[in-house]
Amino acid sequence: MIKFPKNFLWGAATSAYQVEGNNVNSDWWEWEIESRHEKSGSACRHYELYEQDFDLAKSLNHNVHRLSIEWSRIEPQEGKFSKEALEHYQKVILSLRSRNIEPIVTLHHYTNPIWFAKSGGWENKQSVSYFLRYCDYVASFLAKHVHYWITINEPTIFLYHAYIIGAWPPQIKSFLRANKVENNLVCAHVKTYQLIHKIYKELNIEKPCVGISQFTQAYMPCTQSPQNRFAANLRDKWYNFNFLDKIIRQRSMDFIGINYYSRQVVEFSKPSIANLFMGVCKDNHHPVLKNSLGWDIYPEGLRELLLKLKKYNLPVIITENGICTADDNQRWDYIQSHLKNIHQAMEQGVNVLGYLYWSLMDNFEWDKGFGPRFGLLGIDYNTYKRTVRESAKKYSQVCVSGILE
Ligand code: BGC
Repeated sequence: MIKFPKNFLWGAATSAYQVEGNNVNSDWWEWEIESRHEKSGSACRHYELYEQDFDLAKSLNHNVHRLSIEWSRIEPQEGKFSKEALEHYQKVILSLRSRNIEPIVTLHHYTNPIWFAKSGGWENKQSVSYFLRYCDYVASFLAKHVHYWITINEPTIFLYHAYIIGAWPPQIKSFLRANKVENNLVCAHVKTYQLIHKIYKELNIEKPCVGISQFTQAYMPCTQSPQNRFAANLRDKWYNFNFLDKIIRQRSMDFIGINYYSRQVVEFSKPSIANLFMGVCKDNHHPVLKNSLGWDIYPEGLRELLLKLKKYNLPVIITENGICTADDNQRWDYIQSHLKNIHQAMEQGVNVLGYLYWSLMDNFEWDKGFGPRFGLLGIDYNTYKRTVRESAKKYSQVCVSGILE
Protein backbone atom coordinates (compact mmCIF):
# COMPACT_ATOMS: atom_id res chain seq x y z
CA MET A 1 0.00 0.00 0.00
CA ILE A 2 1.30 3.47 -0.80
CA LYS A 3 0.00 6.76 0.52
CA PHE A 4 0.09 10.17 -1.13
CA PRO A 5 -0.04 13.46 0.79
CA LYS A 6 -3.40 14.72 1.97
CA ASN A 7 -3.60 17.81 -0.19
CA PHE A 8 -2.43 16.05 -3.37
CA LEU A 9 -4.11 17.26 -6.59
CA TRP A 10 -5.97 14.42 -8.34
CA GLY A 11 -7.73 14.78 -11.65
CA ALA A 12 -7.53 14.70 -15.42
CA ALA A 13 -6.63 16.97 -18.33
CA THR A 14 -8.18 18.03 -21.64
CA SER A 15 -7.44 20.63 -24.30
CA ALA A 16 -10.01 22.87 -25.96
CA TYR A 17 -9.51 21.86 -29.56
CA GLN A 18 -9.55 18.16 -28.78
CA VAL A 19 -12.85 18.15 -26.89
CA GLU A 20 -14.93 21.26 -27.61
CA GLY A 21 -15.80 20.88 -31.30
CA ASN A 22 -16.31 23.44 -34.04
CA ASN A 23 -13.27 25.58 -33.50
CA VAL A 24 -13.76 27.05 -36.94
CA ASN A 25 -11.34 29.97 -36.55
CA SER A 26 -8.36 27.81 -35.68
CA ASP A 27 -5.44 27.02 -38.00
CA TRP A 28 -6.02 23.31 -37.31
CA TRP A 29 -9.59 23.56 -38.58
CA GLU A 30 -8.39 25.09 -41.82
CA TRP A 31 -5.65 22.49 -42.11
CA GLU A 32 -8.16 19.65 -41.62
CA ILE A 33 -10.22 21.02 -44.51
CA GLU A 34 -7.17 21.02 -46.78
CA SER A 35 -5.61 17.78 -45.57
CA ARG A 36 -6.88 14.23 -45.90
CA HIS A 37 -6.86 13.67 -42.15
CA GLU A 38 -9.92 12.88 -40.07
CA LYS A 39 -11.73 16.09 -39.11
CA SER A 40 -12.37 17.23 -35.55
CA GLY A 41 -15.96 18.33 -36.33
CA SER A 42 -18.02 18.38 -33.15
CA ALA A 43 -15.25 16.56 -31.22
CA CYS A 44 -16.86 15.60 -27.85
CA ARG A 45 -19.28 18.56 -27.87
CA HIS A 46 -17.68 19.56 -24.59
CA TYR A 47 -18.29 23.25 -25.37
CA GLU A 48 -21.98 22.58 -24.64
CA LEU A 49 -21.70 19.52 -22.41
CA TYR A 50 -19.06 20.71 -19.95
CA GLU A 51 -21.47 20.71 -16.95
CA GLN A 52 -22.25 17.06 -17.53
CA ASP A 53 -18.53 16.25 -17.91
CA PHE A 54 -17.65 18.06 -14.69
CA ASP A 55 -20.46 16.24 -12.85
CA LEU A 56 -18.77 13.03 -13.91
CA ALA A 57 -15.32 14.31 -12.87
CA LYS A 58 -16.80 15.23 -9.50
CA SER A 59 -18.46 11.83 -9.13
CA LEU A 60 -14.98 10.36 -9.76
CA ASN A 61 -13.57 12.39 -6.85
CA HIS A 62 -11.35 14.64 -8.97
CA ASN A 63 -10.24 17.77 -7.13
CA VAL A 64 -8.40 19.37 -10.06
CA HIS A 65 -9.06 19.69 -13.79
CA ARG A 66 -6.79 20.96 -16.53
CA LEU A 67 -8.41 22.67 -19.52
CA SER A 68 -7.22 25.03 -22.22
CA ILE A 69 -8.57 28.21 -23.69
CA GLU A 70 -8.93 28.35 -27.44
CA TRP A 71 -7.23 31.54 -28.58
CA SER A 72 -9.15 31.52 -31.89
CA ARG A 73 -12.46 31.76 -30.01
CA ILE A 74 -11.23 34.64 -27.86
CA GLU A 75 -9.67 36.55 -30.77
CA PRO A 76 -11.25 35.27 -33.97
CA GLN A 77 -9.90 38.24 -35.91
CA GLU A 78 -6.77 40.20 -35.22
CA GLY A 79 -7.43 42.63 -32.38
CA LYS A 80 -11.19 41.79 -32.21
CA PHE A 81 -11.88 40.07 -28.93
CA SER A 82 -15.01 38.07 -28.17
CA LYS A 83 -16.49 38.94 -24.78
CA GLU A 84 -18.96 36.12 -25.29
CA ALA A 85 -16.21 33.51 -25.61
CA LEU A 86 -14.39 34.92 -22.61
CA GLU A 87 -17.58 34.76 -20.55
CA HIS A 88 -18.07 31.19 -21.66
CA TYR A 89 -14.67 30.23 -20.22
CA GLN A 90 -15.48 32.12 -17.05
CA LYS A 91 -18.64 30.01 -16.72
CA VAL A 92 -16.62 26.85 -17.35
CA ILE A 93 -14.12 27.77 -14.64
CA LEU A 94 -16.84 28.76 -12.19
CA SER A 95 -18.61 25.53 -12.85
CA LEU A 96 -15.43 23.69 -11.77
CA ARG A 97 -15.08 25.93 -8.73
CA SER A 98 -18.71 25.31 -7.71
CA ARG A 99 -17.82 21.60 -7.57
CA ASN A 100 -14.66 22.30 -5.57
CA ILE A 101 -12.49 21.31 -8.50
CA GLU A 102 -9.35 23.43 -8.89
CA PRO A 103 -8.88 24.64 -12.48
CA ILE A 104 -5.47 24.57 -14.17
CA VAL A 105 -5.71 26.75 -17.26
CA THR A 106 -3.52 26.41 -20.36
CA LEU A 107 -3.27 29.42 -22.65
CA HIS A 108 -1.77 27.70 -25.70
CA HIS A 109 -2.27 24.03 -26.54
CA TYR A 110 -0.87 23.73 -30.11
CA THR A 111 -3.62 25.65 -31.95
CA ASN A 112 -3.52 29.24 -33.26
CA PRO A 113 -6.09 31.58 -34.77
CA ILE A 114 -6.11 31.50 -38.58
CA TRP A 115 -5.23 35.21 -38.77
CA PHE A 116 -2.17 34.59 -36.56
CA ALA A 117 -1.01 31.68 -38.73
CA LYS A 118 -1.47 33.84 -41.85
CA SER A 119 0.62 36.61 -40.33
CA GLY A 120 3.58 34.19 -40.18
CA GLY A 121 2.61 32.35 -37.01
CA TRP A 122 5.34 31.85 -34.44
CA GLU A 123 8.04 32.82 -36.93
CA ASN A 124 6.79 36.38 -36.98
CA LYS A 125 8.63 38.79 -34.67
CA GLN A 126 5.25 40.18 -33.66
CA SER A 127 4.02 36.75 -32.50
CA VAL A 128 5.12 37.39 -28.93
CA SER A 129 3.24 40.66 -28.64
CA TYR A 130 0.12 39.15 -30.27
CA PHE A 131 0.20 36.30 -27.75
CA LEU A 132 0.76 38.67 -24.84
CA ARG A 133 -2.19 40.83 -25.84
CA TYR A 134 -4.44 37.76 -25.84
CA CYS A 135 -3.03 36.54 -22.51
CA ASP A 136 -3.51 39.97 -20.97
CA TYR A 137 -7.17 40.00 -21.99
CA VAL A 138 -7.81 36.50 -20.66
CA ALA A 139 -5.74 36.58 -17.48
CA SER A 140 -7.02 39.99 -16.36
CA PHE A 141 -10.61 38.79 -16.68
CA LEU A 142 -10.11 35.36 -15.08
CA ALA A 143 -7.50 36.21 -12.44
CA LYS A 144 -9.99 36.09 -9.57
CA HIS A 145 -10.94 32.51 -10.38
CA VAL A 146 -7.65 30.91 -11.46
CA HIS A 147 -4.53 30.15 -9.45
CA TYR A 148 -2.64 27.76 -11.77
CA TRP A 149 -1.69 28.82 -15.30
CA ILE A 150 0.17 26.94 -17.99
CA THR A 151 1.39 29.35 -20.65
CA ILE A 152 2.35 26.86 -23.38
CA ASN A 153 1.70 23.15 -23.71
CA GLU A 154 4.69 21.11 -24.89
CA PRO A 155 6.64 23.74 -26.82
CA THR A 156 9.14 21.09 -27.95
CA ILE A 157 6.48 18.80 -29.42
CA PHE A 158 4.83 21.74 -31.15
CA LEU A 159 8.19 22.73 -32.64
CA TYR A 160 9.05 19.18 -33.64
CA HIS A 161 5.77 18.36 -35.38
CA ALA A 162 5.00 21.74 -36.92
CA TYR A 163 8.49 23.03 -37.84
CA ILE A 164 10.91 20.08 -37.97
CA ILE A 165 9.13 17.02 -39.37
CA GLY A 166 6.31 19.05 -40.93
CA ALA A 167 3.49 16.73 -39.83
CA TRP A 168 1.29 19.44 -38.30
CA PRO A 169 0.33 22.88 -39.55
CA PRO A 170 2.13 24.91 -40.87
CA GLN A 171 4.06 21.81 -42.06
CA ILE A 172 7.53 23.30 -42.18
CA LYS A 173 10.70 21.23 -42.22
CA SER A 174 13.55 23.48 -41.26
CA PHE A 175 15.87 23.49 -38.26
CA LEU A 176 16.63 27.13 -38.90
CA ARG A 177 12.99 28.19 -38.85
CA ALA A 178 12.31 25.92 -35.87
CA ASN A 179 15.07 27.74 -34.04
CA LYS A 180 13.43 31.09 -34.67
CA VAL A 181 10.10 29.72 -33.42
CA GLU A 182 11.76 28.31 -30.34
CA ASN A 183 13.23 31.69 -29.46
CA ASN A 184 9.81 33.29 -29.83
CA LEU A 185 8.19 30.62 -27.65
CA VAL A 186 10.78 31.10 -24.92
CA CYS A 187 10.23 34.83 -25.04
CA ALA A 188 6.43 34.40 -25.10
CA HIS A 189 6.54 32.23 -22.01
CA VAL A 190 8.88 34.50 -20.03
CA LYS A 191 6.87 37.63 -20.83
CA THR A 192 3.53 35.94 -20.14
CA TYR A 193 4.87 34.71 -16.83
CA GLN A 194 5.82 38.28 -15.90
CA LEU A 195 2.54 39.65 -17.19
CA ILE A 196 0.38 37.25 -15.17
CA HIS A 197 2.34 38.04 -12.01
CA LYS A 198 1.95 41.76 -12.67
CA ILE A 199 -1.83 41.40 -13.15
CA TYR A 200 -2.21 39.55 -9.83
CA LYS A 201 -0.07 42.08 -8.03
CA GLU A 202 -2.11 45.00 -9.35
CA LEU A 203 -5.35 43.28 -8.42
CA ASN A 204 -3.93 42.42 -5.02
CA ILE A 205 -4.64 38.72 -5.47
CA GLU A 206 -2.52 35.96 -3.94
CA LYS A 207 0.51 35.18 -6.17
CA PRO A 208 -0.41 32.82 -9.01
CA CYS A 209 1.41 29.61 -9.89
CA VAL A 210 2.61 29.80 -13.50
CA GLY A 211 4.50 27.19 -15.51
CA ILE A 212 4.59 25.25 -18.77
CA SER A 213 3.76 21.64 -19.59
CA GLN A 214 6.93 20.00 -20.82
CA PHE A 215 6.75 16.87 -22.96
CA THR A 216 9.21 14.31 -21.64
CA GLN A 217 10.27 10.80 -22.58
CA ALA A 218 12.79 8.31 -21.32
CA TYR A 219 15.64 8.00 -23.85
CA MET A 220 17.37 4.64 -23.72
CA PRO A 221 20.30 3.56 -25.94
CA CYS A 222 19.39 0.46 -27.94
CA THR A 223 22.84 -1.02 -27.34
CA GLN A 224 25.58 0.24 -25.07
CA SER A 225 27.74 1.47 -27.99
CA PRO A 226 29.27 4.92 -27.34
CA GLN A 227 27.35 6.38 -30.33
CA ASN A 228 23.98 5.19 -29.04
CA ARG A 229 24.70 6.34 -25.52
CA PHE A 230 25.84 9.72 -26.80
CA ALA A 231 22.68 10.13 -28.92
CA ALA A 232 20.38 9.04 -26.07
CA ASN A 233 22.04 11.50 -23.74
CA LEU A 234 21.84 14.28 -26.25
CA ARG A 235 18.14 13.70 -26.87
CA ASP A 236 17.44 13.66 -23.17
CA LYS A 237 19.19 17.02 -22.85
CA TRP A 238 17.64 18.53 -25.95
CA TYR A 239 14.07 17.27 -25.89
CA ASN A 240 13.53 17.02 -22.13
CA PHE A 241 15.61 19.83 -20.68
CA ASN A 242 16.64 22.44 -23.24
CA PHE A 243 13.43 24.49 -23.11
CA LEU A 244 13.09 24.10 -19.35
CA ASP A 245 16.68 25.25 -18.79
CA LYS A 246 16.12 28.35 -20.89
CA ILE A 247 13.04 29.53 -19.03
CA ILE A 248 14.11 28.48 -15.56
CA ARG A 249 17.35 30.42 -16.06
CA GLN A 250 15.11 33.47 -16.51
CA ARG A 251 13.32 32.73 -13.25
CA SER A 252 9.97 32.37 -14.91
CA MET A 253 8.60 29.14 -13.46
CA ASP A 254 6.62 28.57 -10.27
CA PHE A 255 6.09 24.88 -10.99
CA ILE A 256 7.19 22.40 -13.64
CA GLY A 257 4.37 20.69 -15.52
CA ILE A 258 5.47 17.28 -16.80
CA ASN A 259 3.72 15.32 -19.54
CA TYR A 260 5.06 11.78 -19.68
CA TYR A 261 3.81 8.85 -21.76
CA SER A 262 6.56 6.66 -23.08
CA ARG A 263 10.21 6.03 -23.91
CA GLN A 264 12.29 6.05 -27.05
CA VAL A 265 14.93 3.42 -27.78
CA VAL A 266 17.69 5.37 -29.49
CA GLU A 267 19.84 4.07 -32.32
CA PHE A 268 22.46 6.34 -33.89
CA SER A 269 23.69 4.28 -36.79
CA LYS A 270 23.99 6.66 -39.77
CA PRO A 271 26.02 9.80 -39.14
CA SER A 272 23.50 12.53 -39.96
CA ILE A 273 21.80 15.23 -37.92
CA ALA A 274 18.39 13.65 -38.56
CA ASN A 275 19.60 10.27 -37.33
CA LEU A 276 21.23 11.84 -34.30
CA PHE A 277 17.97 13.44 -33.23
CA MET A 278 15.41 10.99 -34.62
CA GLY A 279 16.91 7.55 -35.31
CA VAL A 280 15.08 4.90 -33.34
CA CYS A 281 15.84 1.24 -32.92
CA LYS A 282 13.71 -1.09 -35.06
CA ASP A 283 14.88 -4.31 -33.38
CA ASN A 284 13.05 -5.41 -30.31
CA HIS A 285 16.06 -5.20 -27.98
CA HIS A 286 14.19 -4.24 -24.82
CA PRO A 287 10.61 -5.48 -25.31
CA VAL A 288 7.85 -3.90 -23.22
CA LEU A 289 4.07 -3.60 -23.53
CA LYS A 290 2.75 -0.95 -25.89
CA ASN A 291 -0.31 1.30 -26.20
CA SER A 292 -2.62 1.13 -29.21
CA LEU A 293 -0.42 3.62 -31.10
CA GLY A 294 2.61 1.38 -30.56
CA TRP A 295 4.28 3.60 -27.93
CA ASP A 296 6.37 1.74 -25.35
CA ILE A 297 5.02 1.60 -21.80
CA TYR A 298 7.90 2.40 -19.47
CA PRO A 299 6.80 3.69 -16.04
CA GLU A 300 10.32 3.57 -14.54
CA GLY A 301 11.25 6.35 -16.92
CA LEU A 302 8.93 8.73 -15.12
CA ARG A 303 10.68 8.14 -11.79
CA GLU A 304 14.11 8.61 -13.41
CA LEU A 305 12.94 11.80 -15.05
CA LEU A 306 11.44 13.21 -11.86
CA LEU A 307 14.68 12.55 -10.01
CA LYS A 308 16.55 14.56 -12.63
CA LEU A 309 14.21 17.50 -11.99
CA LYS A 310 15.36 17.74 -8.38
CA LYS A 311 18.18 20.07 -9.42
CA TYR A 312 15.66 22.82 -10.22
CA ASN A 313 14.23 22.81 -6.73
CA LEU A 314 10.72 23.56 -7.98
CA PRO A 315 7.42 21.80 -7.33
CA VAL A 316 6.23 19.48 -10.08
CA ILE A 317 2.75 18.66 -11.34
CA ILE A 318 2.23 15.70 -13.66
CA THR A 319 0.06 17.64 -16.08
CA GLU A 320 -0.45 14.63 -18.40
CA ASN A 321 0.09 10.90 -18.22
CA GLY A 322 -2.10 8.38 -19.96
CA ILE A 323 -2.63 5.54 -22.37
CA CYS A 324 -4.71 4.90 -25.45
CA THR A 325 -5.90 1.33 -25.42
CA ALA A 326 -8.89 -0.81 -26.23
CA ASP A 327 -8.18 -2.81 -23.07
CA ASP A 328 -9.35 -0.92 -20.00
CA ASN A 329 -7.47 -3.27 -17.63
CA GLN A 330 -4.32 -2.13 -19.34
CA ARG A 331 -5.31 1.49 -18.57
CA TRP A 332 -5.60 0.74 -14.89
CA ASP A 333 -2.25 -1.11 -14.90
CA TYR A 334 -0.71 1.89 -16.62
CA ILE A 335 -2.09 4.36 -14.06
CA GLN A 336 -1.02 2.24 -11.10
CA SER A 337 2.49 1.59 -12.33
CA HIS A 338 3.07 5.27 -13.07
CA LEU A 339 1.66 6.33 -9.70
CA LYS A 340 4.02 3.89 -7.98
CA ASN A 341 6.99 5.43 -9.75
CA ILE A 342 5.84 8.94 -8.91
CA HIS A 343 5.53 7.94 -5.29
CA GLN A 344 9.05 6.47 -5.27
CA ALA A 345 10.41 9.74 -6.66
CA MET A 346 8.53 11.62 -3.94
CA GLU A 347 10.11 9.40 -1.31
CA GLN A 348 13.44 10.40 -2.76
CA GLY A 349 12.68 14.07 -2.29
CA VAL A 350 10.86 15.25 -5.43
CA ASN A 351 8.07 17.64 -4.55
CA VAL A 352 5.15 16.43 -6.69
CA LEU A 353 1.94 18.38 -6.09
CA GLY A 354 -0.47 16.47 -8.27
CA TYR A 355 -1.34 14.01 -11.02
CA LEU A 356 -3.57 14.62 -14.03
CA TYR A 357 -4.53 11.66 -16.15
CA TRP A 358 -4.73 12.30 -19.92
CA SER A 359 -7.54 12.49 -20.60
CA LEU A 360 -10.84 12.93 -18.82
CA MET A 361 -12.55 11.64 -21.97
CA ASP A 362 -11.72 10.08 -25.34
CA ASN A 363 -11.03 12.88 -27.76
CA PHE A 364 -9.58 14.12 -31.04
CA GLU A 365 -6.01 12.89 -31.13
CA TRP A 366 -4.71 15.49 -33.66
CA ASP A 367 -3.49 13.93 -36.92
CA LYS A 368 -4.44 10.47 -35.57
CA GLY A 369 -8.13 11.39 -35.41
CA PHE A 370 -10.65 9.76 -33.08
CA GLY A 371 -9.18 6.22 -33.16
CA PRO A 372 -6.94 6.33 -30.06
CA ARG A 373 -8.96 6.04 -26.85
CA PHE A 374 -7.23 7.80 -23.97
CA GLY A 375 -10.31 8.58 -21.87
CA LEU A 376 -11.40 7.76 -18.37
CA LEU A 377 -14.79 8.39 -19.95
CA GLY A 378 -15.56 6.59 -23.18
CA ILE A 379 -17.35 8.64 -25.85
CA ASP A 380 -19.83 7.30 -28.35
CA TYR A 381 -19.27 9.71 -31.25
CA ASN A 382 -22.73 9.03 -32.70
CA THR A 383 -24.74 9.86 -29.60
CA TYR A 384 -22.08 11.75 -27.54
CA LYS A 385 -23.01 9.56 -24.63
CA ARG A 386 -20.31 9.30 -21.97
CA THR A 387 -19.53 5.97 -20.31
CA VAL A 388 -17.52 5.77 -17.12
CA ARG A 389 -14.78 3.17 -17.61
CA GLU A 390 -13.83 0.72 -14.84
CA SER A 391 -10.32 2.22 -14.73
CA ALA A 392 -11.92 5.59 -13.95
CA LYS A 393 -13.76 4.06 -10.99
CA LYS A 394 -10.59 2.45 -9.68
CA TYR A 395 -8.67 5.70 -10.10
CA SER A 396 -11.48 7.52 -8.26
CA GLN A 397 -10.74 5.38 -5.18
CA VAL A 398 -7.16 6.66 -5.20
CA CYS A 399 -8.40 10.22 -5.69
CA VAL A 400 -10.65 10.06 -2.65
CA SER A 401 -8.30 8.19 -0.30
CA GLY A 402 -4.82 9.10 -1.57
CA ILE A 403 -4.06 5.41 -1.16
CA LEU A 404 -2.98 2.95 -3.84
CA GLU A 405 -3.46 -0.61 -2.65
C1 BGC B 1 -0.64 16.36 -25.82
C2 BGC B 1 -2.09 16.00 -26.01
C3 BGC B 1 -2.20 14.66 -26.69
C4 BGC B 1 -1.53 13.62 -25.84
C5 BGC B 1 -1.57 12.20 -26.38
C6 BGC B 1 0.20 15.21 -25.33
O1 BGC B 1 1.49 15.26 -25.81
O2 BGC B 1 -0.52 17.48 -24.99
O3 BGC B 1 -2.71 17.02 -26.74
O4 BGC B 1 -3.51 14.30 -26.96
O5 BGC B 1 -0.17 13.95 -25.73
O6 BGC B 1 -0.86 12.11 -27.56
